Amino acid sequence: MTASAATHSSRPSLGTALITGASSGIGAMYADRLARRGYDLILVARDATRLAALAYRLTQETGVRTEVLQADLIDRSDLARVEQRLHSDASITLLLNNAGIAVTGTLLDADIDAVERMVALNVLAPTRLAAAAAKGFAARKAGTLINIASVLALLPEMFSGTYSGTKAYVLNLTRSLQQELGPMGVRVQAVMPGATRTEIWDRAGTPISHLPQDMLMDVDAMVDAALVGLDRGEAVTIPSLEAVHEWHALDDARRALGPFLSLRQPAPRYAATPNA
Ligand SMILES: NC(=O)c1ccc[n+]([C@@H]2O[C@H](COP(=O)([O-])OP(=O)(O)OC[C@H]3O[C@@H](n4cnc5c(N)ncnc54)[C@H](OP(=O)(O)O)[C@@H]3O)[C@@H](O)[C@H]2O)c1
Repeated sequence: MTASAATHSSRPSLGTALITGASSGIGAMYADRLARRGYDLILVARDATRLAALAYRLTQETGVRTEVLQADLIDRSDLARVEQRLHSDASITLLLNNAGIAVTGTLLDADIDAVERMVALNVLAPTRLAAAAAKGFAARKAGTLINIASVLALLPEMFSGTYSGTKAYVLNLTRSLQQELGPMGVRVQAVMPGATRTEIWDRAGTPISHLPQDMLMDVDAMVDAALVGLDRGEAVTIPSLEAVHEWHALDDARRALGPFLSLRQPAPRYAATPNA
């Protein structure tokens, strides 16, 4: 379904942003903000009714072109349709890899099939979509890729190890893509939200009312901060974090370990103890 209201359009289009998980929460807020910046939109999620309502509102309010692309990104043929769109549509200048779910609890207690679905959505889908978008962006030497990770990438002990692991993957993939695609003129950002007031908590069976309110950011504030980070060229944006030097110190410490992590010989401290 395509809607447009050219009469509202005064700004030149910045191209088209394809947003996954656009039907609610962070994705829907990005859709609003990117439309107001002048991006046309392709809105991807399963709930076509919600997507259509958002598309209609944003077209009415901003005049950008909006299109609903209904897809269950856990379904391989639906995912392939979205990849195909990224391959074939040169008007797409921005991909927001945002769709995600959370599975709470320990691995021993987890519904392992739910964990598999989470890995498919949080890991496999953004990887395939990033690859599809990156080919066109690299060829055109332009484009923006935003991957929504989480501060839980840094805190595997805090919520759920499997969810944390999916977000650590997104963070690592993004860092590697910055190195690979940055020199080709492609902007790549990882966003690491803390707890944000969206439906993900209730969907995961953790009522949002149980969270300490001073840990919880409103979704408009989170997305606006992330876009400031993007505008400033940040590789990694952590909306809650004022002391950004702490993040840089962690990142620098990680990189400083590099020369010592793969050597011909084991470290002397692992020398076998005689008669041990
Ligand atoms: N809220 C937080 O505290 C927080 C913190 C850090 C990171 N994040 C990350 O932020 C991202 C967005 O989450 P949110 O907080 O905005 O939650 P949300 O409101 O639940 O939004 C999740 C979005 O993903 C879509 N989605 C879910 N399953 C899908 C599937 N199988 N195929 C396609 N789309 C699917 C949902 O749409 P449909 O149901 O219509 O498909 C919805 O649009 C996620 O990656 C999440 O991990 C959230």
